[in-house]
Amino acid sequence: MSEARFRIKRFDPASDTAPRYDTFVVPYEGNLTVLEGLFSIQERQDGSLSFRYCCRAAVCGSCAMYINGRYRLACQTNVSQLPAGDVTVEPMPHLPLVRDLVCDMTDFFAKYEYIKPWLIRDEAHDPEREIPQSPKARRKLDMPIDCILCGCCYSSCPSVWGEENYLGPAALLKAYRFEVDSRDQARRERLPNFDNERGVYRCHTITNCMEACPKELNPTEGIQWLKGAAVRRRLFGRLK
Ligand code: SF4
Ligand code: F3S
Repeated sequence: MSEARFRIKRFDPASDTAPRYDTFVVPYEGNLTVLEGLFSIQERQDGSLSFRYCCRAAVCGSCAMYINGRYRLACQTNVSQLPAGDVTVEPMPHLPLVRDLVCDMTDFFAKYEYIKPWLIRDEAHDPEREIPQSPKARRKLDMPIDCILCGCCYSSCPSVWGEENYLGPAALLKAYRFEVDSRDQARRERLPNFDNERGVYRCHTITNCMEACPKELNPTEGIQWLKGAAVRRRLFGRLK
């Protein structure tokens, strides 16, 4: 039987005056993910511990947390990856807090929706018919399509900390994902939403977003591409 020592940041804005760290020892056999450790604590030691999760398979992004000083998904982080079984778990920093490890993602998803994150066609088409796409065109989506909207990049970006209206790397990566999709026809409609005072010009290429991403994606690359598209439209009136 092994043991992991969890040090968890706790704060309930409704009743606490300041955050504190609670320590829990979790016995386990074989492997233990941080999310499994949190379940064990909640079930056996402190039912008031609050955290968010859903898929437990690193595809929903719900359990993004700050673990031992790094952005990680709790469900894909094994305690054996962490030094000496010591696990410090904090909520993603710089985001409003609901309670304990649960951040308020309202602004994050409002900004995501703002860039119209869905496929838009100009012309009427039969939804029962496929829109063909070549393998080469599909490969342009390989990187951005893997975004799971966990919010790590958004939490890590100093431009987001300094400018609350800035759309941030996740929303802009999603705009890029649709702008490079050969089937999408919304350039005229979507581009003004990132070519404005909330959009790409607020990115100062700090690249924290790349380092934070637990899926190893590159929001910076997408944002630079969008900047190019925005500047071409301004200088030459070109939409493509
Ligand atoms: Fe999470 Fe990466 Fe998507 Fe940002 S780009 S929301 S860090 S998966
Ligand atoms: Fe922020 Fe990433 Fe740009 S950290 S400033 S969005 S390169």
